[in-house]
Amino acid sequence: MSEPLTVDLDIQSLGAQGDGIGRHDGAVVFVPYALPGERVRVRLQERGHNAFSGRLIEVLAAAPNRVVPPCPVFTRCGGCAMQHVSMEEYGAWKKAQVAATLATRGLSMPEKTEIVSTAPGERRRAVFAAHKEKDQVTLGFHAAMSHEIVPLEDCLLLTPALRASLPQFNALAMVALHNKQSADLQVTETLSGLDILMQSGDDLPEARRQPLIAVARQAGFARVSWAHGKRQPEPIVMEHVPQVRFADILVDLPIGAFLQPSLSGEAALVAAVTKGVGKAKRVADLYGGCGTFSFPLAKQARVLSVDSARPTVAALTAAINRARLSGRVEGLARDLDQSPLPPQDLKPFDAVVFDPPRAGAEMQSRMLAKSIVKRVVAVSCNPASFARDARILMDAGFAMTSLTVLDQFLWSHHAELVAVFTRK
Ligand SMILES: C[S@@+](CC[C@H](N)C(=O)[O-])C[C@H]1O[C@@H](n2cnc3c(N)ncnc32)[C@H](O)[C@@H]1O
Repeated sequence: MSEPLTVDLDIQSLGAQGDGIGRHDGAVVFVPYALPGERVRVRLQERGHNAFSGRLIEVLAAAPNRVVPPCPVFTRCGGCAMQHVSMEEYGAWKKAQVAATLATRGLSMPEKTEIVSTAPGERRRAVFAAHKEKDQVTLGFHAAMSHEIVPLEDCLLLTPALRASLPQFNALAMVALHNKQSADLQVTETLSGLDILMQSGDDLPEARRQPLIAVARQAGFARVSWAHGKRQPEPIVMEHVPQVRFADILVDLPIGAFLQPSLSGEAALVAAVTKGVGKAKRVADLYGGCGTFSFPLAKQARVLSVDSARPTVAALTAAINRARLSGRVEGLARDLDQSPLPPQDLKPFDAVVFDPPRAGAEMQSRMLAKSIVKRVVAVSCNPASFARDARILMDAGFAMTSLTVLDQFLWSHHAELVAVFTRK
């Protein structure tokens, strides 16, 4: 096998994942951690037809907007892609990526597109990878494009509670895992303490339960649950019911249920959605989760909240009953991809909100297109599926009247959107 080629090249632009893009002998070279305007030395690795990955060896001439990354494991840890550029340039790149994705469906960004950023130290939810080998646990995030776990001593993105508990997550993995076993730890900071779901390819053996319970109690975790693969998760220890608050309504968080990753991001989304529904008095909140939007919207409207996850709808309904909100908010368990709400069921609503997973809400958008609904607020964590769904709505006479881009996954290539669509 021939030695990988080392070449010097100029970086011309930034790609969708944050890679610098240059050319060598007519082929495209994607160089992670390189910036436009830089001359860099890279080691080439074939990536496909006429395309290479370039591992950055040296920045020969740095761009003026290059900054010292704040995290010591940046470039080793795959959690962040863009700490090496000024925040101004980073924000402009994120906005440009959204614009480019919308353009693939012939959509343009409304002139007054708002950009909202979150700050470091706000991520209340994270998934850590853990692996035990020779009685040592490695816990952290995966390296970029790799299964290797980069051990994490600290992470600037996390809330203080999550940062402070990293050694306890390690201790939990140490007692729960056997040698050569891996697990993911989904950790969520709730009002009642940390809620941890461990997911592994194996059962939790009886002999490991008591040690796990002891570590969880000592650490003061609210709940630790275990899931074997995709099976139903089982709570192993619960000292407090993990609770979250939407508007002033407390909701018991089901194990593994969706929650926005930061409180500030959630607040920005709620503000954009609330503004987006305008004066609507009857709102359908589709892919509604535990009530992130439904409860704030219930202050001004009657809300139908629909989600396919039964434990999520049960938790929402319990919260509705506790707060004596029945009649104001109603929960419905329904798979909206398989059976979207049809036009006749959409008739009573002055506004419809949808916030699907990454795949988007294609079937529901087609139903909205055929309905008489005049106002739709689309929330999305995937600009590509959003653009497809927006196209469906706009081909049915809707106009995109406002767009908010939320950067809730700081220093990554992800962007979230809230768009308001109206028609006469
Ligand atoms: C991105 S989350 C948004 C939840 C909520 N709007 C929030 O902000 O917390 C997507 C939600 O869609 C639900 N979901 C996933 N697939 C679904 C489907 N096919 N039909 C209905 N709901 C679905 C998930 O359970 C999850 O609660």
